[in-house]
Amino acid sequence: MSAIPGESVFCSAALASGLVTNEAIEYAERVARHRLSQAGQSGAELSDRLLAEILVEQEILTQYQAEQLMEGRTKLTLGPYIVTDFIAQGGMGQVYKAVHRFMGRVCAVKVLPLERATQLARDSFIRETRMQAKLDCPYLVRAFDAGVDGKVHYLVTEYVPGMDLRRLVKLRGPLSVQQAAHIIRQAALGLAYAHDKGLIHRDVKPGNILVTPQGDAKVSDVGLAGFNQDLLNDPRAGKIVGTTDYISPEQIRTPLEVKPVADIYSLGCTLYYTVCGKVPFPGGDTPSKLKRHLEETPWHPRRFVPDIPEDFVDIIADMMDKTPEKRIGTAKEVAARLEPWADVHHHELSTAKLSRSPCMAPPPPLDPDSESAGSVGEEAANQESSAASSHAANFGSASNLENLKLNAARERDQNSHSLSNPGSGVKPVPVVAPMDQMSPWMVVALTLAIAVPPTLVIGAIFGYLFSRGV
Ligand SMILES: Nc1ncnc2c1ncn2[C@@H]1O[C@H](COP(=O)(O)OP(=O)(O)OP(=O)(O)O)[C@@H](O)[C@H]1O
Ligand SMILES: [Mg+2]
Repeated sequence: MSAIPGESVFCSAALASGLVTNEAIEYAERVARHRLSQAGQSGAELSDRLLAEILVEQEILTQYQAEQLMEGRTKLTLGPYIVTDFIAQGGMGQVYKAVHRFMGRVCAVKVLPLERATQLARDSFIRETRMQAKLDCPYLVRAFDAGVDGKVHYLVTEYVPGMDLRRLVKLRGPLSVQQAAHIIRQAALGLAYAHDKGLIHRDVKPGNILVTPQGDAKVSDVGLAGFNQDLLNDPRAGKIVGTTDYISPEQIRTPLEVKPVADIYSLGCTLYYTVCGKVPFPGGDTPSKLKRHLEETPWHPRRFVPDIPEDFVDIIADMMDKTPEKRIGTAKEVAARLEPWADVHHHELSTAKLSRSPCMAPPPPLDPDSESAGSVGEEAANQESSAASSHAANFGSASNLENLKLNAARERDQNSHSLSNPGSGVKPVPVVAPMDQMSPWMVVALTLAIAVPPTLVIGAIFGYLFSRGV
């Protein structure tokens, strides 16, 4: 393909985007010709890819920008922010890395589906953004700015290198007790700060804890969950309003009366996930997950981490107590209980070595109506659950752990549940092993029982008896 401006898709888009000048393209062309002649291909046409490659080498474009321009996309800005990279597809919209056109500050820009929200949700979002602007804590992702570009609403925050805790655990497996304690302690300090300012997070989960390459943590999306919940009427909301893997029982029962201690339950579930590599209630659909948060107790962490200290398990259990009054009461106390376990020399995680996303990065949105936000979020949540449940099959029965604290709590909860339903008069139904926890022989036997017609089986039995002369 010819790379002459006006004829080449890449050159035309690069010029139209305002990211590249004519001079820069001419310089790249000279370099490209020189390279081709050195390779004995002087007569060859300049390709868009070669020119893009040279402009990336010159640091005039980022790889992401070059790829977008090769596709002919020219709008790589959101308000005064120049988009330099795609970070991730979140539950509400995409997150981009960007740089302020004039100030040069690197930041993260999160696209919000605000155009679909009710006026009430917008007002609450603006209120929350103003609140966030007042927060200044090393353990919380700082909010810098919010704006609108055409119909696209966005929130600008501090850029945190590294990756979120969910991806970290998925890629590297469960963290050690020391690493987990270090990260969750810092998240607890961030939450303690937000709680002191009168803010409840309401969506604490591994995806909302960002971990730097040094292994330090910052809680993101403080103040966004309320906005998220206001989107329940949004047709996409049923799919995208987060995962229910970390939701507190009181958020399920009385969502409008949530207190800061709800964040502690969610942080407890997050700690469980961080050391076990599995969510507390894997598998099942949303209603069954909610029911299990209300009534059941997760597997003892020793099922997944045989050498986990019992005192550490007690902290998880105390954070995840279903009764808010019995739970650890403040985020500060959580941080204090985790402190002895957090080894400051043990937390380096070098998350920077891990790539962010294996899939093709999308462009910054032009028309919010054409966005397909949400399905990825749901898929991600489901993947988390199904991965966790299939993993669960690798471990033995938990019956030998019945006497341990978490399972004792399960009984307590089941009893209190049956008491709270006096009309039912039945014992709590025992938990049946799901398919992925059955032994292979049971699966074969079941399959045979279903697949082989009963007459054949009876025939075979009679045949066997006759052959033995019975
Ligand atoms: N400030 C930031 N700096 C760096 N990466 C970020 C930042 N904010 C978000 N991310 C990355 O983008 C991902 C998506 O974030 P986003 O908050 O949109 O989605 P989510 O946390 O998965 O779901 P939800 O929308 O329910 O919070 C995060 O998991 C994180 O990896
Ligand atoms: Mg988030």
